[in-house]
Amino acid sequence: MSESPNESTMGGSAHRPDATVGTAVSAVFSSDVRTKAKQIIARYPVAQSALLPLLHLVQSVEGYVSQAGIEFCAEQLDLSKAEVSAVATFYTMYKRRPCGEHLVSVCTNTLCAALGGEKIYRTLAEHLGGEERPLGHEETAGEPGTPGSVTLEHVECLAACDFAPVLQVNYEFFDKQTPESAVELVKALQRGERPNPTRGAPLTDFKQVGLQLAGFFGGRESDVDGPSASPETLRGAWLAQEQGWTAPAMPDDAPLPDVPEKK
Ligand code: FES
Repeated sequence: MSESPNESTMGGSAHRPDATVGTAVSAVFSSDVRTKAKQIIARYPVAQSALLPLLHLVQSVEGYVSQAGIEFCAEQLDLSKAEVSAVATFYTMYKRRPCGEHLVSVCTNTLCAALGGEKIYRTLAEHLGGEERPLGHEETAGEPGTPGSVTLEHVECLAACDFAPVLQVNYEFFDKQTPESAVELVKALQRGERPNPTRGAPLTDFKQVGLQLAGFFGGRESDVDGPSASPETLRGAWLAQEQGWTAPAMPDDAPLPDVPEKK
């Protein structure tokens, strides 16, 4: 599988330098974003605990964690840029290059791979980049952030093996996929449609999901509270209930660690 970018379909996103380098942080993040950042920080007894949702907030603005985003988080939390970068580059949900309107994540871990996940990924890579130069991991077809642009990635187990092979669009599940169904789904995204996920919340886009992951739902809390379990997922719990199996009870007096006072 090629990891090289296909400039004709990707808009050169793979090697584009960070457009925010040298840009004042205040020019990128509005007062509304700063207010949201303060609200996030207020949720935690220790301000620095807010870094993960703050990085999602940053991603909701630019579709990735830019250098300006790193500086913004560092300023808000009194951390060094190196400390923020260390976290942003550790977790794969934080993207260091601009993403498409939609992020398509194909599980290629053991069970999905055995049931066709690798083939789904290869087929989508060829659909989005062409047979000669299939799209590589975390590369984007189309100009990042514009309608119909799609970033493709392969991911490890999505904890949905009972529906293998699965993929996600902006972290919403599409279960029991085939190469054909996956291509139809991506074609619909490219046309500007938002097909319903198999379960969970309705589809939005990558930036909007960043806002949700930062804890802002814009009055659509009920959407993300939707049921996502299914008979396949619950079968173990039902079996345990039938057999009377239970987990050991938590002691009432389990000691909690001391938390330093918030500064
Ligand atoms: S291996 Fe794909 S969801 Fe677990």
